[in-house]
Amino acid sequence: MGALPFAVLISGRGSNMLALERATRDGRIDGRIVSVVSDRPDAAGLDAARRLGLETAVLEPVPAMGRDEYGRRLSEILERSGAQLVALAGYMRILEGAFVRRWQGRLLNIHPSLLPAYRGLHTHRRVLEAGEGNHGCTVHFVVEELDAGPAVIQGRLAVRPGEGEGTLSARVQRLEHIIYPRAVGWFAAGRLTWLGGAALLDGCAPGPEIVEEDA
Ligand code: GRF
Repeated sequence: MGALPFAVLISGRGSNMLALERATRDGRIDGRIVSVVSDRPDAAGLDAARRLGLETAVLEPVPAMGRDEYGRRLSEILERSGAQLVALAGYMRILEGAFVRRWQGRLLNIHPSLLPAYRGLHTHRRVLEAGEGNHGCTVHFVVEELDAGPAVIQGRLAVRPGEGEGTLSARVQRLEHIIYPRAVGWFAAGRLTWLGGAALLDGCAPGPEIVEEDA
């Protein structure tokens, strides 16, 4: 089959992109990153990707470019790169329907909550405000509805008494850097598939795998 060519979409620091790249080098992912695409030219992750010798591209939304046009151009960049999987990693734009349909089953995202709880932004703050006992992160297939696609794997932790947003988000990120490479590794190995709106691991859909913080 050969190593899976995949692309990573970022808007910021790119720590998940770097975790994925590390996993391609140490064999946890039988794949290679063929393109790192950002919607922001100043994303710190772009420099980090360039330093690693990865191909990068910037597709900045301009007011004249509607969401459909943006999606078309993004697809062109990704098709040209040869990517067979697209991993959203801190990519802050909502992708329009035609784009999502075109990449359906080949489009993953990492979200900083235990979906279906806390879709959307500012998850750490909202979790703390609600006094939740558990929090974490989820890798899921992307569907048109925001943060609603089937979950593949989750990282879970217990919120500590009196914990602030800073430490909580750092702990969640450490889990992100474990679960995202694992999910992409499964996809590259042909173990993770999409079937009619469900995520299958080794042909079954038992619900997402859970990784506990201290496991
Ligand atoms: C992560 O927390 C991810 O869950 C969210 O955006 C953040 C991206 O961080 N979608 P990084 O750019 O990968 O460091």
